[in-house]
Order: sequence, then C-alpha cells, then structure tokens
Amino acid sequence: MIDCCIFCQVYLLSMWCTTIYLSLTIICLQYNACNVNALENGLALKPPMGWMSWQRYRCIIDCDTYPYECISEWLFKNATDHIVANGYKEAGYEYVIIDDCWMEMERDPVTQELVPDRKRFPSGMKALADYVHSKGLKFGIYEDYGTHTCMGYPGVINHMELDAQTFGKWDVDYVKLDGCYADIMDMNKGYPEFGRLLNETGRPMVYSCSWPVYQEEKGLMPNYEALKKHCNLWRNWDDIQDSYESLNKITEYFAVNASRIQPNAGPGHWNDPDMLLIGNYGLTVDQSKSQMAIWAILAAPLLMSTDLKNIRPEFREILINQNVIDVNQDALGIQGSRLRVECKIETWVRPINPIINGAHSYAVAWASKRDDGSPCVYSSKLKDLGLTYDKGYEVTDLFDEDHDFDHIFRTNTNITVRVNPSGVQFYKFTPIQ
Ligand SMILES: *[C@@H]1O[C@H](CO)[C@@H](O)[C@H](O)[C@H]1NC(C)=O
Ligand SMILES: *[C@@H]1O[C@H](CO)[C@@H](O)[C@H](O)[C@H]1NC(C)=O
Ligand SMILES: *[C@@H]1O[C@H](CO)[C@@H](O)[C@H](O)[C@H]1NC(C)=O
Repeated sequence: MIDCCIFCQVYLLSMWCTTIYLSLTIICLQYNACNVNALENGLALKPPMGWMSWQRYRCIIDCDTYPYECISEWLFKNATDHIVANGYKEAGYEYVIIDDCWMEMERDPVTQELVPDRKRFPSGMKALADYVHSKGLKFGIYEDYGTHTCMGYPGVINHMELDAQTFGKWDVDYVKLDGCYADIMDMNKGYPEFGRLLNETGRPMVYSCSWPVYQEEKGLMPNYEALKKHCNLWRNWDDIQDSYESLNKITEYFAVNASRIQPNAGPGHWNDPDMLLIGNYGLTVDQSKSQMAIWAILAAPLLMSTDLKNIRPEFREILINQNVIDVNQDALGIQGSRLRVECKIETWVRPINPIINGAHSYAVAWASKRDDGSPCVYSSKLKDLGLTYDKGYEVTDLFDEDHDFDHIFRTNTNITVRVNPSGVQFYKFTPIQ
C-alpha cells in the first residue's frame, strides 16, 4: 500500500500522457494508500457536516441595528432550531460552529481566560453548548493560533493550555484554529502542540487546522504527513467568497493541485475547500448544485453558512439532497478529482461504495463552465472515465430521481449528458451483480 502511494505520487507529479495519466489516476484514487499515521481521536471518520457563521454573518457585532444577524447566542440557538426543525439534522448536519468575533477584546484580568462578549453571549458558552447538545447537535468554536484572531480578538498564543482547558470545560466538540497574526515558521510546532493540549483535556474535539493555507500563500509547501497526524481537517487554500468566481478559483486549485492534495484525505483527516455558499446571494440554483456536487466529489466538509430562517426552498433542497450527501459521506473516504476539461465541461470522478465483484461504484459530475445560453450536450465513453468493469453499470441521476436510464452502461457505451451553463449533471454508476 505504501509503495503504491509513493509510486502514485511520483507518478502523478511526473506524467504527462493523458491516457496513462487517466487510468493511473483512477488506480491511485482507488488505493488511496496514504492513510498511515492519522490523528486517532476517533472523530470525523466522514467529512464533518454542520453550520458555521462566517460566510454569511462575518463579523456583524452591532446587535442593536442587526439583531437577527449579529454574532450572538440568539443566532446560534436559532440556527440550531432550524437545523432540527427543517430536515438538516436528519440529512446529517451536526456541528453548529461559531466563527470569529465571539469574544471580548480582553482576557479575564484575573484568570486570563477567554471571555465571550458579555452583551452578545450573556449566558456564556457552556450554556450555549448545553442548548446545542439538548437538541442532539454538537458545538464548535473558533480561535486563532496567533496573537490575535483575524478580526483582532485575543489569540491562543501564550495561553494554549488554558484555552484548550477552557474549551474542554465549555463542552466544545469542534475547534477551528485560524492562523492570522502568527509566524508561519512556528506553525509546524504550534498547531500539533495545541492538538496535544486538546487531547489532554480528555474531551474528544474535532480539530480543524488552518496552517496549510497560511504557509502555502507564502510559498511554503505544507507538511501533509504532519497535518494528517495532528488535524481532522485543514483549510488548504483561500477563503471562499460569495461568488461563482471565487468558487471557481477554489475548485481550480483543487483540480490543478490534486496530485499532492488528494492522497491526504481519508477517514479522520480531510482537505477543506471551505464553506458552502448555497442559500446566499452569489450563486444561482445551477451553480449551487455545482458546488454541492464538487464538494461531494472532493469529500469536503459540508459546512453551510446561510440564513436558515429565510432560505429559499430550492436552495434548502440542494443542501439536504440525500443522494448527493451520501456520495460526500461515502465510508471509503476516497477524495475524487477532476479528470479532464473539454469544451469547458469539467469531468470530476470519485470512487465510492458499493464495491461489487471487486469493482468500485463511481460518482461522476459534469460541471459546465460555459456561458453560451443553452445546455451543452457532452458524451463520454465509460472506459474513458476509468469505468472498466465488463458487466457494466447501472446509472442514477443524483439530482433527478425521475430520470430513468433504461439500459446497462458498458465500458464501451457512451453516456451523454446535457449540462446547463454553469450547472452540473451528477450521476452514480453502480456495477451490476
Ligand atoms: C428562530 O427563528 C424562528 C423564525 O424566525 C422562530 O420561529 C424561532 O422561535 C426562533 N428560535 C429561537 C430560539 O429564538
Ligand atoms: C488522545 O490521543 C490518544 C492517542 O492517540 C487517543 O487514543 C485518545 O483517544 C485521544 N483522546 C482524545 C480525547 O482525543
Ligand atoms: C496550485 O498550487 C500552487 C502552489 O501553491 C499555486 O501557486 C497555484 O496557484 C495553484 N493552482 C491553482 C490553479 O490555484
């Protein structure tokens, strides 16, 4: 397994010939042999699912003017209520996660503990965690490895042990540790150290690290073996912003840099392309389906960040689409990748369960980056997608259960899709018995 892994990595880095590249990519995806030495806290065996405040609510702290949008205990209680009442919990969304701007600007002068903003979180974090837990969900919080958080609140540096203990005491289940105002050279040591301190609290907490993005932005390649060993997930690249353009930049990063990113994902340790934009201002319905499908292929954490009390039903349906979520949460935990781009149609492939007679099932997404008005017709032979099981495959349309395929698709069969401009077609191929 390990030999295959090294072989695959060297191979993917050095090879150009597309056909050979294609078939070897598929083999490498299937073996995904790099799962050695992972963080053993028993958490995030599937990509975490939940709701996080940042993308939609940023650092709104003026509760007098924006009572329903400011970062406050009400906001998180209300999100909790909606997750439970409107089918998100049932679909698998579990963590309610506070991002930046929850703190007072100063630590407690006596204990040096972090203090939640007294006006916006009057009941304190333990009470909020209790509320979230009482609804059967889990509670996440944000901090920063540096001197300050990105928005200028106190960071954990010099108080790492105390802060880890504080999170344990508050019954936190998930910690996102950002990397603003920090020395990127200290991170290789400091992030594992904070992980060790979290572990020492005795409370299992998912550990989300931001260290690769800060290093890579400055041209330093992250140490993925260390990431897998110390973190359950990590942000590889830029923050997502509320636009299709931003979404495309991020997917392009994961497509182009797949050879060094993809092998690091697996149960307990995931690459994180950042939050879902779905339900907000920047994406159309088609673009939202496209994000959801590509996040499923990438085995990405599914972290919604939208106003669940006002979300339009068509966006809610995308977020709770069980077929797509099942691909995302596939227990094999093999991250997929983009196989090719042809006439601005991107083909993304991920091997998934069930495995029948030794052959994997596959999720395949065709994402259009076209803008020429009408849907684009695009055909591929199954074997060119890496689908080589001789008896053939049954096909299901993951976004459209009424779409009936009346025959078995064999390796030489062409599959033809019609993809809306900036939309996606997302199918599952299951080997027949
Ligand atoms: C959350 O908001 C909804 C609708 O706006 C409301 O019905 C519900 O009671 C709120 N929950 C809390 C805890 O305030
Ligand atoms: C702490 O780490 C040990 C060794 O990896 C692991 O067995 C244990 O479950 C961890 N505990 C927590 C609370 O994460
Ligand atoms: C791939 O990674 C390199 C190194 O960080 C980066 O410079 C480049 O922009 C990435 N490619 C894309 C398309 O984002």
